[in-house]
Amino acid sequence: MNDFKRTLITTALPYANGPVHIGHLAGVYVPADIFARYLRMKGEEVLLIGGSDEHGVPITLKAKNEGITPQDVVDRYHGIIKKSFEDFGITFDVYSRTTSKTHQDHASAFFKTLYDKGEFIEKTSEQFYDPKAHQFLADRYITGTCPHCKSEGAYGDQCESCGTSLNATDLIHPKSVISGSKPEMRETKHWYLPLDKYEPFLKEWILEGHKEWKSNVYGQCKSWIDMGLQPRAVSRDLDWGVPVPVEGAEGKVLYVWFDAPIGYISATKELTHDWETWWKDDSTRMLHFIGKDNIVFHCIVFPTMLKAHGAYNLPENVPANEFLNLEGDKISTSRNWAVWLHEYLEEFPGKQDVLRYVLTANAPETKDNDFTWKDFQARNNNELVAIYGNFVNRTLVLTHKYYQGEVPALGELTDYDQEIVQELTATKAKIEKALDGFKIREALFEAMNIARIGNKYIADCEPWAVMKTDPERVKTIMNICMQITANCAIGLAPFLPFTSQKLQGFMNVEELNWSSLGGIDLIPAGHSINKSALLFEKIEDETIEAQIQKLLNTKEANKAESQKVEPAKANCSFEDFMKMDIRTGTILEAEKVAKTKKLLKLTVDTGLDKRTVVSGIAEFFEPEKIVGQQVSILINLEPRKIRGIESQGMILMAEDADGKLMFISPTEKTSNGSIVR
Ligand code: MF3
Ligand code: ZN
Repeated sequence: MNDFKRTLITTALPYANGPVHIGHLAGVYVPADIFARYLRMKGEEVLLIGGSDEHGVPITLKAKNEGITPQDVVDRYHGIIKKSFEDFGITFDVYSRTTSKTHQDHASAFFKTLYDKGEFIEKTSEQFYDPKAHQFLADRYITGTCPHCKSEGAYGDQCESCGTSLNATDLIHPKSVISGSKPEMRETKHWYLPLDKYEPFLKEWILEGHKEWKSNVYGQCKSWIDMGLQPRAVSRDLDWGVPVPVEGAEGKVLYVWFDAPIGYISATKELTHDWETWWKDDSTRMLHFIGKDNIVFHCIVFPTMLKAHGAYNLPENVPANEFLNLEGDKISTSRNWAVWLHEYLEEFPGKQDVLRYVLTANAPETKDNDFTWKDFQARNNNELVAIYGNFVNRTLVLTHKYYQGEVPALGELTDYDQEIVQELTATKAKIEKALDGFKIREALFEAMNIARIGNKYIADCEPWAVMKTDPERVKTIMNICMQITANCAIGLAPFLPFTSQKLQGFMNVEELNWSSLGGIDLIPAGHSINKSALLFEKIEDETIEAQIQKLLNTKEANKAESQKVEPAKANCSFEDFMKMDIRTGTILEAEKVAKTKKLLKLTVDTGLDKRTVVSGIAEFFEPEKIVGQQVSILINLEPRKIRGIESQGMILMAEDADGKLMFISPTEKTSNGSIVR
């Protein structure tokens, strides 16, 4: 397909501040592992690179909360994460970490090279500084009141209540997380990567040169580039990370998104002396497996870094996936809404492949997908057990029963047999085509077709019936069934490696190689197979109900947590209250604000005028359904631009403990402009 001699596969380095869950596996590690195994089986040279991302502000915050050091935090989770990946058969050639000496040195040298080449812009800007703690404050180290929804405890980069992304300077009453003191503005110097300067290169390289990238990836790149790229700061004032290796940069470290991708290079360097072949030789193809939130960093920022450096290859493809949800809700570490890999293995010992199967069959390749326990059960029972397990079991059991486990000889093939062989061969090509195009879900479906072909063949041929009339013919049938079984073991091995291992044990074969896939000469006549057992077990309703119950308990716990009614605010004066001009009004028009999830643009009759209000209620109300709704509106709120639209006022809403919004409207219809007080 191309002239590459080897493939370097990188997988996003997970942050070492929590264990890994099914979302990680489904989005990145299982597809990357499938791809790596597939290439290895084809005899290609491949490296699968992974490691923990151990820098960044959230890790320092977690350490602070727990009263331990950031190093303690990453030591704990690096171990847990590494073990989970091993347990699930992710065949990393190296699983490193960004606190390693090699990485610190390499990231530092990388920065220095760009610095010496004059690639960075140096800029001084004003940033929040904590005068008590004597340090600059990262956005996450500042909390305050959200300027949009007014909830307390919004972070300097985002309000988690209303989801708006913020600048720390937007916060009302900003407060340092470290000392609680009021931060002040101070000047600080940072280094910026001039993405704008590389815009022509990025346009050419991605928009012209990589039209074959997945549409979700290409689309995101295009919209970033179309919006116009800005220089990005690559250093931070923080005491956790790789120190900026230039004079006068005390107390500054490389931004985590600058050092982390360099971790791919450092890890390769730790693995092999030959690392430069993997990174610099243009006969190496580099692929980044990532989730969608990482696209800009892997398609725009890191390639710009590599290009600016000059010595390294650029990625050939970045097959990013969308997100996996759990039972209809976004997976969330802080809300414990996840299926944790280490817990899964305690509760489903030995069933790694079941999870790998379900996550691949339902992979969020083109859109977000949902993991449900019912689907997990159904796919296990109706697909793994009923199709794959059933076919293999019938073949092995009959071979023992009729031939004492010795594979019978193949006689003359009927037309139908020929058809089956052709289908097998065609299936191999389909699996390869899908895998080569990173359509891993489709590839799994095609690979399972081998078992479907087998099931159909054995059911159509009915060896158990033919045995009574034509035992010679049964030998051919059972030989073919054994060949199809071996085909399953090969074709499904990248996806279900534990199962293939088990099946090869039953069949008493060591290695099966990809090139023999699609043929019927895999197992010689006379070969003795071993005693076998079931490949998969049915999963009972009780087991699934227990998992669903566990999630319901989490939901309950979260609800109890959030239903703690918010404490009362400090008193305000009567005069302050009277400053607010709240009126009744009626919504005349409503439409969604393009490219936002939460915002509606409303036209409201306030009795005094008709005005535009942008309101964050789109998740709860269909625009058509609220036309005519009477509302309460604060009309003398300072007008603000939201998404380029001037919003003149605020619709008052009640928000319950689950975050559901309701209008505050008069109990009877009243004239617009009535005063509320
Ligand atoms: N830690 C990041 C995340 O979980 C991914 C880092 S990928 C790397 O989103 F390229 F920076 F390593
Ligand atoms: Zn908010």
